[in-house]
Amino acid sequence: MTRTLINETPKLIGQTIKLAGWVHVRRDHGKIIFIDLRDRSGIVQMVVIPGDQETYEAAKTVRSEFVIEVEGLVKERPASAVKQGSATGTVEIEVKKLTVLGKVAGELPVDISKEDMDLNLDTLLNNRTLTLRHVKIKAIFQIYGEVLRSFSEIVRRDGFQEIKSPKILNSATEGGANFFKIKYFEQEAYLAQSPQFYKQAGVGAFERVFEIGSVFRAEPHFTTRHVNEYIGLDAEMGFIQSFEDVMNELEEVMMHMFASIEKRCGDELALYGATVPKVKVIPRMRLTQALEILEREYGKKIEGVDIDPEGERLICEWAAKEYGSELVFLTHYPVSIRPFYTMPSADGEFTESFDLLFRGLEIATGGQRIHDYDQLVESIKRHNLKPEDFEHYLDIFKYGMPPHGGWGLGSERIVQQTLGLQSIKEAVLFPRDVKRLTP
Ligand code: 4AD
Repeated sequence: MTRTLINETPKLIGQTIKLAGWVHVRRDHGKIIFIDLRDRSGIVQMVVIPGDQETYEAAKTVRSEFVIEVEGLVKERPASAVKQGSATGTVEIEVKKLTVLGKVAGELPVDISKEDMDLNLDTLLNNRTLTLRHVKIKAIFQIYGEVLRSFSEIVRRDGFQEIKSPKILNSATEGGANFFKIKYFEQEAYLAQSPQFYKQAGVGAFERVFEIGSVFRAEPHFTTRHVNEYIGLDAEMGFIQSFEDVMNELEEVMMHMFASIEKRCGDELALYGATVPKVKVIPRMRLTQALEILEREYGKKIEGVDIDPEGERLICEWAAKEYGSELVFLTHYPVSIRPFYTMPSADGEFTESFDLLFRGLEIATGGQRIHDYDQLVESIKRHNLKPEDFEHYLDIFKYGMPPHGGWGLGSERIVQQTLGLQSIKEAVLFPRDVKRLTP
């Protein structure tokens, strides 16, 4: 007999089938043993009554998370017993034969059969190999999977070629201080802070490229929006008229992504009481304009030239009120706070760049890049960097490059904001932070 999945059982009433999965929970009522069985498709209730001695004895030994295989009869449950909101609540399985495939060693550190585990973040993450099995935690990664799938689907449709770039580099791509230096045989090397240089090289070959890949950032602090290793959804496109083209494409991506999540992950969203934003047009405003709004509307005066996390939250609040949009682009960041490869605006003070904010959090950064060799060398010097350290990167621009631009989009932040998760770490399978290198 081949294995049937639990979500297929409502169509198989009266048939004897084979199921396999984990014991979600076992309850004994006198001589009757109830086992909720969980597989990748759902949970179903099974009943074991004294009959086949071997099966009954085996059923008495199983506990939560034992892996079992059963043969049983699919029966309709009386209407009064049907569990609301459960797709398989209409049937139960009368077990004929039960075999243990995998046992549990010792006690389980947490109970994952409860509807809400109610664990603090450390306990949740320390026991990740087990807590990942919880229905609500799995839902996070089902949505995550849809973010990845829909991203590559839409950019592929639009002619972007997928690439994978190296993560061990000889220079710190994004500059700054948040890079990991590693020992690489006899030399020093750096873990990639972004695929920036390689996706630009990719434009030289393919015009349009995208990469889904690991990004390493040595952020030495604990925040709810940073991890030290994350997955970037990067894209880069050639022959743009201006960085507006890049924003237009990213707008398409977000629109498609949220529509796909809504279409395919309705149950998972419902577990969190979450909805996706309806993206039509994402409002765009200059950073300086946003700073004025913060001062005028919220009495918030920003020291320096950049917006801070509270400012991002308030600007999103304002955009939701004014434009009915949960996403907003802030544009034209000053040259002084953008990487050397960013295209300056005609005024020389600002840049052809943007951040995309979603429900109060920056989820993407992008813009147009400098594509002229001499201008790029000048910009490297102006940022107090040495052109000789970027020799191979600079080669790209010796060989003829079109006007181009792109973005880096944080995959985990999309999921965090969609579901309203307190910390980004909840949206990372096995997160890395300052103190956490395991599990
Ligand atoms: O703003 P960032 O640093 O931009 C770049 O990497 C540029 N090369 C992108 C470009 O093409 N111009 O990072 C891009 C995005 C951020 O908006 C954020 O969503 C995410 O990556 N991100 C992080 N996510 C989790 N933990 C961290 N430490 C992150 N740092 C950035």
